[in-house]
Amino acid sequence: MTETNALNGKSALVTGGSSGIGKAIAQALVDLGVTVAISGRDAEALERAAGELGVTAIQGDVGVEADAERMVETLVESTGRIDILINNAGFGRFATLLETTADDMESVWRTNVLGAFLVGRAAARRMVEQGSGSIVNISSTAGAKGFGRGTAYASSKFALRGMTECWRDELRRHDVRVILCNPSEVLTDFSRRAGGSQQASPKKLIPEDIAAAVVGVLRTDARGFVPEFSVFATNPF
Ligand SMILES: NC(=O)c1ccc[n+]([C@@H]2O[C@H](COP(=O)([O-])OP(=O)(O)OC[C@H]3O[C@@H](n4cnc5c(N)ncnc54)[C@H](OP(=O)(O)O)[C@@H]3O)[C@@H](O)[C@H]2O)c1
Repeated sequence: MTETNALNGKSALVTGGSSGIGKAIAQALVDLGVTVAISGRDAEALERAAGELGVTAIQGDVGVEADAERMVETLVESTGRIDILINNAGFGRFATLLETTADDMESVWRTNVLGAFLVGRAAARRMVEQGSGSIVNISSTAGAKGFGRGTAYASSKFALRGMTECWRDELRRHDVRVILCNPSEVLTDFSRRAGGSQQASPKKLIPEDIAAAVVGVLRTDARGFVPEFSVFATNPF
């Protein structure tokens, strides 16, 4: 049976597309003929990734309203539409409750919650006008189960999960699909940026595993959708 490529010719914004999971999703979309724009704060890293991927770079911080709006509008100006938003930009800070600062909470929530909201709202505005679109919110298994030292990060991903459910209920009436993706541990720069370290193992997930799952879900006919999925390593122990 020949498989049709429903994504060919679509346009997508991947926030946090300069690294890790976002970059792998951007690559997988490009491979399927999607016109992609990626965003990130570090202009140099962003330009480097955009050059490698052959996509548009839109520098900015998702937690700044004007930047978030500009990310969506720049893509719409060049392609006339936004078919896919991968709401992926995010980071973590990990500390016990007693050690977690107000700044930890504010900064993690500004990117992971406010940022996802701002870009999601800007994209949804356009998708409702179009009468179509898919939003994939990259949450985490930490968005369904808390753990020690996870106050700032897990709470932000629980909030993202809550927002996803609200948007899904509102937007499916406009033929816009809102999808939650919960990766478990993936080998990226995430831990190093959070001030920790990560034990590499060929048994652990890599960004391309998440990209393959996201693309598989996006390729389902727009008549239906997978509302939420998690990706676990089979045997990382
Ligand atoms: N790695 C894991 O184990 C894991 C597991 C579950 C879920 N996740 C989630 O997956 C997503 C991607 O993480 P990753 O592992 O791929 O980490 P990563 O390699 O550190 O990539 C994070 C990306 O987000 C961008 N970013 C961060 N804050 C931003 C902001 N305020 N505005 C715009 N861009 C921003 C970063 O670029 P700049 O710093 O230049 O802005 C970078 O491109 C995150 O939402 C994370 O919570 C990761």
